[in-house]
Amino acid sequence: IPNLKNRNFLKLLDFTPDEISDLLLLSEKLKAAKYAKSEEQLLKGKNIALIFEKTSTRTRCAFEVAAFDQGAHVTYLGPSGSQIGYKESMKDTARVLGRMYDGIEYRGFGQEIVEELGQYAGVPVWNGLTNEFHPTQILADFLTMKEHSDKPLNEIKFCYLGDARNNMGNSLMIGAAKMGLDFRAAAPKSCQPADELVETARTIAQQTGAKITITEDVAVAVKDCDFLYTDVWVSMGEPDEVWEERIKLLMPYQVNAAVMQQTGNRSVKFMHCLPAFHNCETKLGKDIYNKFKIESMEVKEEVFESEASIVFDQAENRMHTIKAVMVATLA
Ligand code: CP
Ligand code: NVA
Repeated sequence: IPNLKNRNFLKLLDFTPDEISDLLLLSEKLKAAKYAKSEEQLLKGKNIALIFEKTSTRTRCAFEVAAFDQGAHVTYLGPSGSQIGYKESMKDTARVLGRMYDGIEYRGFGQEIVEELGQYAGVPVWNGLTNEFHPTQILADFLTMKEHSDKPLNEIKFCYLGDARNNMGNSLMIGAAKMGLDFRAAAPKSCQPADELVETARTIAQQTGAKITITEDVAVAVKDCDFLYTDVWVSMGEPDEVWEERIKLLMPYQVNAAVMQQTGNRSVKFMHCLPAFHNCETKLGKDIYNKFKIESMEVKEEVFESEASIVFDQAENRMHTIKAVMVATLA
């Protein structure tokens, strides 16, 4: 077990490459133990609070199942129903929950909110997604890449297409810089990660051997890639008004069969953190179809439903990697 006891898990920038790689190794061990039905419960008697100011399927379920597997108990605090935000500050909430719980997950808006929670709780706080970062997702993604590649992480080339300025674009770039990957982001200027964060990533890359390329040119970005990755074009918390502009801006960055072919790699895999907009079966999909007459956004059905798609492996790995984060910081 990596020695991360009592540490917060708020963003990958706070962790060394060795610590991240230890978390991945622990995830592999915990996954193997669960499959072999030989999992040892290391979190017996622990109490865990799960705060969600935004909705979730994977992250919430991953924390709950991981906690139960390890013998811990959870309390779910949803977007409404607690005093958080309206009546009580995060600083006070942190000090209250810290008296009752052994660990706290938080999903919400600004990164500064989870940082404040982490500062005052006195127990480990884990970031379950903020506007800026989604660090537990990156652990699941790197575990999935390892499982689907013969190469070590630092020989993997991958491209993230679409809204590269969101939590996923930011965290994948930082994760790639830390772990020495060849990372490309293909996005229009206004959807590229902020200059300051790109600078940070490039500074880290100098030490790890990572490559960081940010470009508007899809053909250049995807060339020789092992994995193509995308995410929704409008994230939780963004106003509905941005849909129209994003669709216009990002349609050239849609992942479709032609883009998969452009990599020149016949075994290129497709990744997405999910939820994905790939057909108009959902309520949101129907609304978008009625307004803009498009049937898919960031990824076409022909890719999402193809053999190359490993999105459900990623989803499963959320659970194993989140379990590793809890075990490493609490056990
Ligand atoms: N990938 C992810 O975080 O999914 P949820 O929003 O369902 O938690
Ligand atoms: N960028 C997306 C990720 C969802 C897991 C969002 O923040 O809505």
